[in-house]
Amino acid sequence: MREHPQIAIDGPAGSGKSTIGERLARRLGYLYVDTGALYRALTVVALERHIAPQDVAGLGALAELTRFEVLPPTRDDGRQYTVLVDGRDVTPELRSPAVEAAVPLTSSHPRVRHAMLARQRALADSRGVVMVGRDIGTVVLPDADLKIYLMVAVEERARRRHHDLLAQLGATAPSFEAVCAEMALRDELDAGKMRPAADAVRIHTDDLQADDVVERILEMVGLLA
Ligand code: DC
Repeated sequence: MREHPQIAIDGPAGSGKSTIGERLARRLGYLYVDTGALYRALTVVALERHIAPQDVAGLGALAELTRFEVLPPTRDDGRQYTVLVDGRDVTPELRSPAVEAAVPLTSSHPRVRHAMLARQRALADSRGVVMVGRDIGTVVLPDADLKIYLMVAVEERARRRHHDLLAQLGATAPSFEAVCAEMALRDELDAGKMRPAADAVRIHTDDLQADDVVERILEMVGLLA
């Protein structure tokens, strides 16, 4: 492995990437980078400035000119990390319904993706990294030391998401069927960038706990060392 090892974890929404990525990074002492959070942070600012998710020029310029920072959690409110946009903490807004609805489209434009690419690579330059997203093994870190692609049936992902929403919203949570339909739509919107790298190790997580997946990946890292 190189001096600053790179582990890429890709997979669809709800595949457990963030839980697994964060635990793995903690065990290895590496930086954890959730690239979805960068696209979400961009979307927060775009919505504030009334830049439409279809506005390629507006979003492209915004992505090129904005400063993004990912830090360890600066507040003890259950967050996995803190994201600063031009120095401002936008972490609480990253998962708002408005961002959830707009981010598949804002993140789909090649000019936006190009602007985010250099930032993601820069984050992986300075230390060992576990980076999670959709295109990390294929585009962002094509030479990563280890590439993992998490796979899980849409119904199981919807079940997990519905469980979280029930805990958060109680009786006002959407139905399981609605969550399942939304998840299938997200998959369709994300499909263009969701492709396992040819050399990715595929792990089906339907019947596995997050910690089991972490242990399995740690074994693979041990074999590479
Ligand atoms: O993983 P997530 O749900 O937080 O991702 C939010 C959005 O960003 C989702 O629509 C897919 C997109 N995304 C992307 O296009 N490329 C990445 N590397 C990570 C996320």
